[in-house]
Amino acid sequence: EKAGHKHFMSKEIAEQPTVISDALSYYLSSDGAGINLPEDGIDFTAFDRIVMVACGTAFFACFTAKYWLEQIARIPVEVDVASEFRYREAPIAPRTLAIFVSQSGETADTLAALRYVAGKADKIVTITNSAESSMARESDLSLPILAGVEVGVASTKAFTCQLTVLLALAIEAASQRGVLARDEVKTHLSALRALPGLINAALDLRDDIDAISQELAEATDVLFLGRGAIYPIALEGALKLKEISYIHAEGYASGELKHGPIALVDTHTPIIVFAPRDKLFDKTVSNMQEVMARGGKVILVSDKTGIADAGDDVWRTIEMPRVSDAIAPILYALPAQLIAYHTAVAKGTDVDQPRNLAKSVTVE
Ligand code: F6R
Repeated sequence: EKAGHKHFMSKEIAEQPTVISDALSYYLSSDGAGINLPEDGIDFTAFDRIVMVACGTAFFACFTAKYWLEQIARIPVEVDVASEFRYREAPIAPRTLAIFVSQSGETADTLAALRYVAGKADKIVTITNSAESSMARESDLSLPILAGVEVGVASTKAFTCQLTVLLALAIEAASQRGVLARDEVKTHLSALRALPGLINAALDLRDDIDAISQELAEATDVLFLGRGAIYPIALEGALKLKEISYIHAEGYASGELKHGPIALVDTHTPIIVFAPRDKLFDKTVSNMQEVMARGGKVILVSDKTGIADAGDDVWRTIEMPRVSDAIAPILYALPAQLIAYHTAVAKGTDVDQPRNLAKSVTVE
């Protein structure tokens, strides 16, 4: 049942090219020129803002989508974790679309948050891996992520499928609202179609990441840095590492480093920097130099040009394929997962059933 893998998590990481292809076939129209949504779909011209709520890894999918929906579709997005959102009595303005993301569709806090917005938001959409779930039933529209059954407690393929669906929504929103020209929409859609192949290429980095993970397994604290839409991926990398290897890890926006966390940096601290060669890359390089000047061991995850431009003081590098800005967060989720997985295996922890955690958190 693990198809030759040692753990479900490893199998589920390896399944990502296939399940993302499944999601793309469902959401991309057969002529490749647009996005198809089930039932009545979503009329993005009917909303002035979006509220997105979820827990854990699903929350980081929402946080990534905030960057996409704001930058690509120009819609203001508020994101929050469900345990806070449900109690903070947020006013819901007219013309608000509410989106909930949940692999299980049963997470107690997310379901309560959904019930809070019922009757207040104009439309409730759930993005879920369980079409029969409570959240799917209580929404106006339920969008499947088509990840298949996820057994490992640490979410992997559900996360990248959630991201794929959310990016498709951002492109659809931009297209409906006339923010993107037709050829720009086409460029985004062909980038989406290239995803499974690129994810396969990222999976080839397994052995390199395994080697680095042997060294990471000795660490007591690890920092993850990222900027823009990659910042939520740094948060996800830190969550994944904590969950399954029990190593203390923190994710930070690269630019926040000097506002406190840099005090943690010494010669024992690995700092994992997710930095595709995008327009913010130079800023990230200067953040990296601040860390290296204090003896911090930087593991740079970037593409060929990024690695060449980063200089020689970087401790280790992981060379990713070159990708467009929009799909980079989905691709960079792979090294985040693989680092956590191989570090946990090196430490000998129970990868599929980490201590104190449950797959679905149906109590508050
Ligand atoms: C982390 C993880 C959890 C879940 C969270 C939400 O690897 O799996 O953080 O993402 O408990 O679960 P769902 O998506 O079922 O609402």
